[in-house]
Parts: sequence; C-alpha cells; structure tokens
Amino acid sequence: MQLKEIDAYARLPLPVVGAEGNELVLRDGRRVLDLYGGHCVNTLGAGDPGLGRVINEQWKRLSFATNLLDHEARGCFMAAFERNLPPEADGWSVFVSNSGAEANENALKFALAFTRRRKVVFFKGAFHGRTAAAAAVSDTKLAAFPSTPFDVVKLPWNDVEMASKAIDTSVGAVILEPYQSLAGVTEPSAEFLATLRRLCDRTGAVLIFDEVQTGSGRLGTPWASQHFGVVPDAFTTAKGAAGGLPIGITVVRTKMASAVPGKLFGSTFGGGPLVLAAAAHVAHRVGEPGFLDNVKATSAALRKAALQNSGSGGPIASIRGAGLLLGLVVKPELKASAVRDALLEQNVLVGTSDDPQVLRLSPALTLTPADATRLATALDALAVKA
Ligand SMILES: Cc1ncc(COP(=O)(O)O)c(C=O)c1O
Repeated sequence: MQLKEIDAYARLPLPVVGAEGNELVLRDGRRVLDLYGGHCVNTLGAGDPGLGRVINEQWKRLSFATNLLDHEARGCFMAAFERNLPPEADGWSVFVSNSGAEANENALKFALAFTRRRKVVFFKGAFHGRTAAAAAVSDTKLAAFPSTPFDVVKLPWNDVEMASKAIDTSVGAVILEPYQSLAGVTEPSAEFLATLRRLCDRTGAVLIFDEVQTGSGRLGTPWASQHFGVVPDAFTTAKGAAGGLPIGITVVRTKMASAVPGKLFGSTFGGGPLVLAAAAHVAHRVGEPGFLDNVKATSAALRKAALQNSGSGGPIASIRGAGLLLGLVVKPELKASAVRDALLEQNVLVGTSDDPQVLRLSPALTLTPADATRLATALDALAVKA
C-alpha cells in the first residue's frame, strides 16, 4: 500500500476488535478493563444500549439537517443541557460545534469580540487544542503556527501573585482547564481560582473554563464550577458530551453573548440532529438521580485500590484530581509509562500524561466500585514483581 498515515500517534500494542461497557475486547479474546475511557469520550461506556437506541431512532427520523432548519433534537438538547447548568441570573447561551479545539476557538472569539481587546492569558501546562487560537493558548512543545492570532501571555499555574500583576484591563480573556489533565491532572488551589474570578470581575476580562475533560459529570458534579464553587463567564466542553459522537459546546453568559453578533459563529455539522440527540441523552443521564453518586463512589473505590499496597511495594505514591479524572503519581524511582505497560500486561488500560511520573484514569462514568477491584488485583501483581 502506498498510502501512509501521518504518524501523529504512538499506538499501543492492543489489537482491539470491539468494546463492551468498560472492557476492550482484543483479537485473541482478552478483555481489558478500560480505565482510560477513550480519553474521557465514553461517558456511558462502550456501546451503551440506550444511547445506541437514541442514535438509531434519530437517524431514521431525521439523520441530518442544515442549521437553517429547526428540529426536535435541538429542543430536547437545550432542555436537557440546561438542567445541569450552574445558576446564572440572566441565563446561559450555547453554540454547538464539532470538537474541543473549535469550542475553545469560539469561546475566545466571544471573549475578544465582547471586550474588544486582543490579549489572552493562559497557563503553563495548558492544553486547549490544535487549531490556531487553541494552540496559541496551549503550552505545546512544538510551535503549531508561525504566529498567534492574538497577543498571549503565559503565566505559572497556581501563582496568585503573577496573575495579579498580569491580569489588567488590557486582557480580554483568561482561559484555563479547572484540572490540567494532560499536564498530569494538576490541581488548582482554591485561592488561585478565587483570585482569577476576582481579577476578571475587576478588569472585565472574560474567565473561560475549558471543561473538555472535566465536564459532563466527570468530577462528580455536572460541571467543574459546581465542584470548585467558582463560576466562569464562559466554558467549553467536548469529548464525552455526546458519548462518542464528535461535538464541541461553547457556553457563555447570555448577557455577554447577546452583546456579540451571532453571525460570527457557524458550522456545517455542529448542532446537527444526530449529535444533539446523543448529547441530550448524555445530559439526561448525567442529571439522573444516582448517576453522579456512582461517579463519586467509584472515584473513592479507585483511590483506595490505587493506594492499597502503596506501603508494601505498590507503585502509586499519591493521587490527584476528583471524580473520574484521577492522576496517579508513581513512586519517584518509577516511570509512569513503565507502570502503564505493566498494567496492560495485567489487562488494565490506563493513560499517561506529560508528567513522566503521572498516570491518568478517565474511565466511563458508568464504571462501578466493583470494577475497581480489578485495578487493585493488577497493582498487587505489580507489587509482587517489584
Ligand atoms: C482540555 C482539553 N481542551 C481541548 C482539547 C481539544 O479537543 P479536541 O481534540 O476535541 O479538539 C483537549 C483534547 O485532548 C483537551 O484535553
């Protein structure tokens, strides 16, 4: 074959032929516990029957429609999505696109149009996507584009003093992930988040939370703002919001959104009926009684499992994060990638991060506390070998 795929990804040696719930099925019949969840995408697990039914029925009823037409799936999505939102006196406005990067581009576009400023503050360790504006506010190793589309200022994470100096009335937007996932699930201090909120209130800069990973119930609350008690002016989400179909969602306080011409935004596929039917189903499930309780209970079980043999040769030293976005910090003498490989031999898939000492867990939110015992058993096998 002449056609070569660009080598963007270092692929794992996992010949996957299928997936069911929280397990990947390999060609040789092995079943691997998926604690990576398709990188936060499989909110309801692989092949969720309810989601499958919704997609199938929507496809039969109205598979696609131009955004010039209104349809029932849009109304269902708006109603289900609104139910989980943090309180906001004037309400929220939403724009639907296709990916996390696009959702962030749109949030930045909103912020800079609203403030009529051209400077954006972002943070060391940040990842917001690969398109021009999203890459401009990402702390990437490779420069994605020859120049940034607006002025950017990179600040250290959790540094209240530096933020206080840098965020002034020239800043149009401050963008951050409430937990920096790729950086190793780094946690924000309460003081840091409260300071950013106060500085944005004082200067008029738009505070944007990138909830591409932390959203849709992942932290045990629908949104990170409800977990941290700090509400941004705009937030974005993607990944798991439609349970496996491509989506990007930008949410902005209505009083800001209404001051920006809506015609600045648009998308062919974004907000189509199929993806909105799926996103409505996910939002509905996240809001169901008990759903987020399961996220919290499973989080506690995974934490316990990860640390249970820490004092007797187990590889994990400490844990960061919340809900089902967890960073497992391996002991200083170990490398996270080696522990990931060893866990894979035990049929448990976890992720790595940009921090060589941190593994990431981002399983489906339907994982149960009982599933955590498989992590405990796998870590025990590693401890014996150590
Ligand atoms: C926090 C965060 N923001 C944005 C993105 C970009 O999302 P997408 O790949 O859907 O463009 C990602 C992707 O990993 C992410 O983790």
